[in-house]
Amino acid sequence: MRSLSILATLFAFSAPSVVLAGSCIAFDASWNLLAFGLNGKDYNAGPSTSWASGTAADITTQGRPPFDGADTKCYLAQFFNAIYVLGADKSKPSDVYMYDAGAKSWSTQAITAGGFDPSSFEAILDHDTNVFYAVSKGELWSLSLEQLKAAQSAPIAWVDQSAAGITTTNYDPVMAIAQNHIHFFGVPGNPAGSASIFVIHFSFWQPGSQSYSSDFPDTHGQATSFFKDSGVQEEMVFIPDDGSKTYVVNVETNTTQTLAGPPTVDAGARYFASTNSLVQLTSSGAISFLPYTAGSASANSAAAWGPIKNLAAVSGTTPAGPDPNNSSSSGGKSTSKGGAAGGSPSKTSGGPSDPTGSGAARRDTVLGSSAALFAVGAAVVAWL
Ligand SMILES: *[C@@H]1O[C@H](CO)[C@@H](O)[C@H](O)[C@H]1NC(C)=O
Repeated sequence: MRSLSILATLFAFSAPSVVLAGSCIAFDASWNLLAFGLNGKDYNAGPSTSWASGTAADITTQGRPPFDGADTKCYLAQFFNAIYVLGADKSKPSDVYMYDAGAKSWSTQAITAGGFDPSSFEAILDHDTNVFYAVSKGELWSLSLEQLKAAQSAPIAWVDQSAAGITTTNYDPVMAIAQNHIHFFGVPGNPAGSASIFVIHFSFWQPGSQSYSSDFPDTHGQATSFFKDSGVQEEMVFIPDDGSKTYVVNVETNTTQTLAGPPTVDAGARYFASTNSLVQLTSSGAISFLPYTAGSASANSAAAWGPIKNLAAVSGTTPAGPDPNNSSSSGGKSTSKGGAAGGSPSKTSGGPSDPTGSGAARRDTVLGSSAALFAVGAAVVAWL
């Protein structure tokens, strides 16, 4: 068993991140899981009730970005059922691609970057105003997407708001939104279990930090927010880069639930949450989820991460960790090749993806035998 785990870890290390550079995940406003740029295609895996079997729908269509960026970011504009995709086209690094999830169509919004560096930022999308707030190189920037679910003809500009009111030296921002407040995790000098806050609607940097009655470390990690069917987000997720735990912070009670860490330790993983699921996308394209029940700490502490099988069935990517739904699984995490600690994921850009599917041959060539080994390794672990 142990040697098989070690083998599986080796296989996970050999997983090709090159082909999956630039992929991202998001939920639409009906909580269908969308995965973009997985081996050159986009998929709709449906709501969580449909993930255990069958096959995700291929939604690859014209107008999509090439998903060849080094750090693609996806956001849901809940009021408009639109997904905004940033950094998905290395030839147009500032542009925002919009996926109208209702119409299932893409458009490209021209963006005037000005002094904003699209290669180095972290951002949240404000729920109520549909304005992006980003921190880049010590400044707070904003970008208003108005009420758009498709691009308008006039370009939209990033606006430099002010210097950030937190330490940004040696700080790669880790941001999430709740109650229209931007929360910054891992700010140097903050006590464990706390976050710094920018109150969007008053343009106010709250002095000091807010405690969330927890011991989550003051380190770099990834953060996202659980949505609600209506109203602003009230709970955020923080996952330190060591993947040891999943922390869910409630900004109404200022308390934290400490839940199982994700199956794959990957500082380059990305996370997206709906109302009832937290999803991890690793650097190698494996997608897993943690079921979540708002208001039930006991259900959440008992919850286990598992694979999204209908997506793995079509995307050619399989979570590297064991399937916790398989009672004989041996536990233990896999480690995926992520970015350098504290930095952005060191994804290598692949070529433009090909929605016609004729890129499959190229993909297979690029993947070579390491992908086959990875698939075998993952299958072995899933089977154990
Ligand atoms: C929770 O923290 C926020 C932000 O600091 C604060 O405004 C609010 O009063 C706190 N709520 C409770 C119940 O402590």
